[in-house]
Amino acid sequence: MPRAVRRAATAAVEFAVGRAGIAAVRVLNRDAIGQGHRPRGAAGSVTGWVFAHRPSNRQRNRWVVSLLGVQPTDRVLEIGFGPGVAVAELVRAGAGHVYGADHSPVMLRQASRRNAAAIQAGRVTLVNAPADRLPAALEGPFDAILAVNSLGFWPAPAERLAELRRRLAPGGRIAIASQPRCPGATADTARRAASEIENLLRNAGFTQLRTEILPLSPPVACVLAASPAS
Ligand SMILES: C[S@@+](CC[C@H](N)C(=O)[O-])C[C@H]1O[C@@H](n2cnc3c(N)ncnc32)[C@H](O)[C@@H]1O
Repeated sequence: MPRAVRRAATAAVEFAVGRAGIAAVRVLNRDAIGQGHRPRGAAGSVTGWVFAHRPSNRQRNRWVVSLLGVQPTDRVLEIGFGPGVAVAELVRAGAGHVYGADHSPVMLRQASRRNAAAIQAGRVTLVNAPADRLPAALEGPFDAILAVNSLGFWPAPAERLAELRRRLAPGGRIAIASQPRCPGATADTARRAASEIENLLRNAGFTQLRTEILPLSPPVACVLAASPAS
């Protein structure tokens, strides 16, 4: 793996689990980047547990969902749902139906357990699929799409975002969030991440861009945008 890509991937993992989480994961498996990208095996279960229980992870997911302002008729899609914290939050917020895709079978299991009652009630559909091969069941149209600390792992994110725009209803919203956990990350680091996401969204044809920052340590940036209304 080229050094720059490895550095970016390390930063992305540290985004998600922080130093304490990474130390725990490394006890079981030294391939922490791979775990953040696609949690698997026993180490993947630990990674998922950290994703689900770290207070700042929970806060950022709750916050991103609150920014989307979901309505009872909304069909919402999350890419890279991990252990399903945002999915549970979307259900609590009253979304009509929540769909999700994650390419990690371990994360699918954890998210399905966490949201078992809502799945049983027919309000949640979770699938094991990569962002670049979403199944027909996730064709849409959706009223809202979100991804939290996941886009950095997608292959060809510009193409993925253009595809997601086609899956949104006219006027549908998207929220892409990033919490940079690289050592020493500051609000500036988060703003730089936001500016990269803004460029990707703009180039993919999204409009009405707006960036919000949640002042956690490290801060979270969330870029919100809309699919053109016509
Ligand atoms: C860092 S975790 C974040 C999980 C969750 N969104 C959260 O904030 O707690 C990244 C998640 O994205 C998933 N992921 C990464 N690349 C993916 C891809 N190309 N397609 C689908 N899921 C992906 C991983 O399996 C993992 O569950």
